[in-house]
Amino acid sequence: MRLNSPVLIAPVSHFLLLAIINPLMSNEPTKPPSGTATADVKKPRIVAHRGASHAAPENTLPAFRLGFEEGADFVEGDFWLTRDERIVCLHDEDTRRVAPKQPIRRVRESTLAELRELDVGAWKDAKYAGTRIPTLEEVLAVVPADKGIFIEIKDDRPEIVKHLRRVLDESRLEPRQVTIIAFDPVIIRAAKAALPRLKAHWLYWWHLNANTGKLSNTPDEILHVSKSIKADGLDINKSPWTTAEFAAQVRRAGLELHVYTVNDVSDAARYVGLGVDSITTDRPKGLRQEIDDHLRPVVSFVDREKVLTVKPDGTWEYKPSRPRKKEK
Ligand code: G3P
Ligand code: CA
Repeated sequence: MRLNSPVLIAPVSHFLLLAIINPLMSNEPTKPPSGTATADVKKPRIVAHRGASHAAPENTLPAFRLGFEEGADFVEGDFWLTRDERIVCLHDEDTRRVAPKQPIRRVRESTLAELRELDVGAWKDAKYAGTRIPTLEEVLAVVPADKGIFIEIKDDRPEIVKHLRRVLDESRLEPRQVTIIAFDPVIIRAAKAALPRLKAHWLYWWHLNANTGKLSNTPDEILHVSKSIKADGLDINKSPWTTAEFAAQVRRAGLELHVYTVNDVSDAARYVGLGVDSITTDRPKGLRQEIDDHLRPVVSFVDREKVLTVKPDGTWEYKPSRPRKKEK
């Protein structure tokens, strides 16, 4: 059958289009295809980066609550150990960026009480004025039973893992709800040794070396490190170097593949195509909606006689393309 004027009503990914179009291109007599058009695409989990940090102050309870309200499967937060051995949530090693015009406190040199004096919400929006740096315990308490958290350990002192284990032991969260992530391979190795029931993913940042112009590491090197620290997976930055070939290599090594931080649907679509396990984003609701829209197979084909429409629910509608003249 020849398609005279294909009309695409909504964007569909290339593979979806091929899956739909193939039966229509054969020379077989035209008949409605069987089955539904719902693509067999693995949808990645959505992880709210520092909470729903597009709208709420990053790494605070309002941001984590909003992340879950926006439908994130997991939230991601950054954690350090204070001078009085409490684990607190903050991205940078000091408070300068999120507590402007206030005394600057370096987390590892400060007590929890000293850090709590600071307002870390007003910089984002006046409605968040008065928001305080949360402890890990407080963050865990806002994780719903069917959701989870990526705990990024920013602190490079492996002793933080001992405190992490204590806090997790006392929390109601199940192991399936908690994933440890860290850029420092030593931290991942320590986490896997102390908390073997939890997943731990090594964070990796592909980049070009400023001096040599060469890629930071080869795929083989990255996989070798991941395996040697017993990581369960890789959580890797958005980059052109995460190719289909690399993704396949990661899978063959028995590792999960996660990606951060993706806010644009065209990037997200590429990672969905690679079958990643999760996408970390600042805007969980918007991105999930856009991914769903992108994958939705709403498509119509018109030929001389018929219009085939694949509807959002995956069902097919098959109609004559123009009203037939009544036979006399
Ligand atoms: O999810 C990983 C990502 O959070 C790592 O980068 O700088 O936002 O902590 P960063
Ligand atoms: Ca982080």
